[in-house]
Formats: sequence, C-alpha cells, structure tokens
Amino acid sequence: MEELHSLDPRRQELLEARFLGGVSGNTAGSTGSASGGTKTPEKKHSESSRGRKRKADNQSESSQGKRLTLFLSLALSLSLSLCLSVCLVCFLTDLTVVKLATIESNKNLDLEKKEGRIDDLLRANCDLRRQIDEQQKLLEKYKERLNMCITMSKKLLIEKVKLTLAEYHEQEEIFKLRLGHLKKEEAEIQAELERLERVRNLHIRELKRINNEDSSQFKDHPTLNERYLLLHLLGRGGFSEVYKAFDLTEQRYAAVKIHQLNKNWREEKKENYHKHACREYRIHKQLDHPRIVKLYDYFSLDTDTFCTVLEYCEGNDLDFYLKQHKLMSEKEARSIVMQIVNALRYLNEIKPPIIHYDLKPGNILLVDGNACGEIKITDFGLSKIMDDDSYGVDGMDLTSQGAGTYWYLPPECFVVGKEPPKISNKVDVWSVGVIFFQCLYGRKPFGHNQSQQDILQENTILKATEVQFPSKPVASNEAKAFIRRCLAYRKEDRFDVHQLGSDSYLLPHIRRASSSGALAPNSSSY
Ligand code: ADE
Repeated sequence: MEELHSLDPRRQELLEARFLGGVSGNTAGSTGSASGGTKTPEKKHSESSRGRKRKADNQSESSQGKRLTLFLSLALSLSLSLCLSVCLVCFLTDLTVVKLATIESNKNLDLEKKEGRIDDLLRANCDLRRQIDEQQKLLEKYKERLNMCITMSKKLLIEKVKLTLAEYHEQEEIFKLRLGHLKKEEAEIQAELERLERVRNLHIRELKRINNEDSSQFKDHPTLNERYLLLHLLGRGGFSEVYKAFDLTEQRYAAVKIHQLNKNWREEKKENYHKHACREYRIHKQLDHPRIVKLYDYFSLDTDTFCTVLEYCEGNDLDFYLKQHKLMSEKEARSIVMQIVNALRYLNEIKPPIIHYDLKPGNILLVDGNACGEIKITDFGLSKIMDDDSYGVDGMDLTSQGAGTYWYLPPECFVVGKEPPKISNKVDVWSVGVIFFQCLYGRKPFGHNQSQQDILQENTILKATEVQFPSKPVASNEAKAFIRRCLAYRKEDRFDVHQLGSDSYLLPHIRRASSSGALAPNSSSY
C-alpha cells in the first residue's frame, strides 16, 4: 500500500479514477469510451484529469493522505463485493505499476490519438453533416425537381390529353369536311344516277316507240283524210295509235288517234266499239275548256279504222313524269290538282254534266312536260253523261262495271250485287285524291304494288277504309285533310266536285287565310 502511496500522483489519480469509475460507474465509460464513447465526456474527462494533475502538484502531503485514506476505505468497502478491485490490489506491484504506467501512457497516447481521431471524426462528421446537408439540399432540390417533374409530367399529361383532344378535334374537323364532301359527292352521284335512269327511261320509251312505229301500217307518213299529214308515232294503246300530225287545213299540229278494230272480231263487237267511239267523240267534241284537250275532228278510214283528231300537246303525261321523277313538291302537286278540279267543275257545270271516270296520271297531259305548267285532261273514252234519264237522286247506274283503272276508282265501283252500283262525280273526286297522294308520296295510296287483277281479287279498294300517310316526304296537314276529303270511304261522306272546287285548300293563300282561317298562309310545306 505504501507503494501505492509512492506512486506518481498522476498515476495515482488515474488509478483513483479507474477505481472511482469502476465503483460509481459515473466515468466508467470514460476510459473505455476511448474505444468508441462520445467525444464530450472524453474531453471533459481529459480536461478534468489535467486540472487534477495541476492540483496534485500543488497539494500538500496531508491532504494527499486523507484523500488516499478515503479512497482506500472506499475501495476496501467495495473490494469484497467487487472482485475486480481485489485483483487490482493484488496486481498493484511495482511491475504492475510499471505496466499500468505504460498502459496509462499508452492510454494517454490513445486518448490523444482518440482526441485527434474524434476531431477527425468531428471534422468528418462536420463533413458528413455538410455532405448530408448538401445531400439534403440536393434531395430538396431533387424533390423540388421531382415535384417539378411530377407537375410538369402532370402538365405534360394534361397537355398530352389536350393535345389528343386537339388532335381529335382536328381529325373530327377533317372527318366532318370529308363527310360533307362525301355526302355532296354521294348526292351528286345519286342525282347523276337518277338523271341516267331518266335518260335510260327515255331511251327505253323511244326504242319502244320506234319499234311500234316500225310495225305500224301508218309509218310511211300518209296524209289521212286528205288533211292530216302523219309525222311520227306518239304512243300506242290497246286498239289505238296516236300520231303527231300536221293539220294542212288549219296549219297546226294535231294528235291523230287511229282506232283500229281487230279484224277477227265479230261484227257486233266491232259495231259496239264504233258506237262507243262515236259516243266518246260526241261527249268530247262539245267540251271547251283550257284544261281539257280539245277534240277537233272525227273520221273513218275504213270499216275497221276510224280517227279522232285532238289538240296536240307538247310534253308528256303525268304518268311518265312520275315514272321519271317519282314525286313532286306539294306546290306543284297542288297546282296540278287545282287545274284538274277546275276542269271537273267545268265538266259538272255543263249540261248534261260529265263524269270522266278514268282520271289517272296517264290521262293528265303536262303541256310543258314538267309539273309547274299547265295540264290538260284527255281520254273521255269511259266518260259518263249524267243526263236526266240516267241520273237519279242517288246517282247513276254504273253500266260499265269492271272498266277503268282500279287504283284510281272508289270503293262503290267495286260493289257487286243484284243492283248495279250508283255512281256520281264523286268517282272523279276519289281519283283526284289518289292522284294527289301519288304526286306527293310517289306511290299509290291503295294497292300500290298490286296488279289490276290482284286489286280485284283481293278487294283492295273495298278494304280501303282509311288512307295512311307516310311520314316522308312531309306534306302539310291541309293537304292531308284535302286528300282525306277526297278519299272518304263512303261516298256520302266524300266531297263532290262542287265542294272540292270551293275547298279551302285550293283557295289562294290570302283568301284562304282570311276566309277559312283553317290554313296558315305560310304553311311550312309550301
Ligand atoms: N298523246 C295522246 N294524246 C295526245 C295529245 N293530245 N297530244 C300529244 N300527245 C298525245
């Protein structure tokens, strides 16, 4: 123990520190901390050690003894429980002291080294901190950039979407233009197709006409009745041919209708036909109306051949027009109907009144060949004279049932029974309704795709209780109402020619608007 007292105070201090540290544990890690403790306690410890060293130099022997005693007593009190302290006491020999001194000096070196290292580490730490700060700054920057990138990406994405939309709109515009262009082209092609079809129809008709003319016995331009120079064939019917002729006397064109009876017919049938033609002539000859083709002359060529000379009309009939154009505007159709009705009014005002009985597009001549000009009614071959003898209160007997063109005849003409059906000018009114419908819609209202025979067999017209209007083309309600008045199933409900003549639909716009109020003056379909 004395040896211990004789120890270099610095070493002693170190030992004390070792023991104190080992007992209290307060600074236990201080020496050991060299291996990896924190710098601050290590520094404190180092500073306090140096401070104590300076103190020790100045302290007196007594205070040293007191402190050592205190220290030893403390150490001894703890030595029992602490093996480490016992061993340490045992090792406190000179050698051990030397060794300890060496260790201690090494430790000092270590400490210095460690201090340097710690400084290095601190510097490194600072460097790292700086680097970290830099990295963090960079990270922040990267984050910023990333955010910017994200934002930009989003923007780009949005812009890309916008761009896509823009592209879409761009394409849409192009497609719209293309579509419009294609539609225009399609319409042009369609129009051209229709034009070609019309030309084709004309060619077909001309071919037929030439063919018929070639086989006609009048093809060599004879002058009939020393007056009518035949020019060319206009058309051919069942037992007749119509030639365009030049009236040498009147110096005008005429239509010469040559009726040729079948040589194989019995004389009675021939006589009957002739009687019929004479009757037609008589009826027609007395008619004088601008909307009715004039009958100028009548003469026989031989027993089987006779001729009627008619006013010549340039242009085509309505049947051919509808074949070429399918339909027409309501204005045009109304104009045609108005003219027909005016002619019918005339036919019903003359004495005796006349029922045409065969009103149909083929018997309506279009003077200019189009739908916006004058018309003339022709062919009075089936006409009925409503003289007092034949016409009763409920009409006249239909003697020629089965004659006529069925699509245009009213239901009463198809009624069969013991008594012949009674007819009136309402037959012509029905025909007007059918013609008007056909002009507007391009189809017949009843039995459109049926043959005459089918209509008869299937009682098509007897079943024609109500007219159905197609949605297209659009026609005015007034036009439809007019047609309904014409196509009333029961003749009692149907307008007669007189009523039709004063129908509001056929009145001029101003008069219509002021008198009936039923029609809007600027009806859309006009
Ligand atoms: N075809 C039949 N009758 C006619 C007429 N009166 N004028 C011209 N062509 C016709």
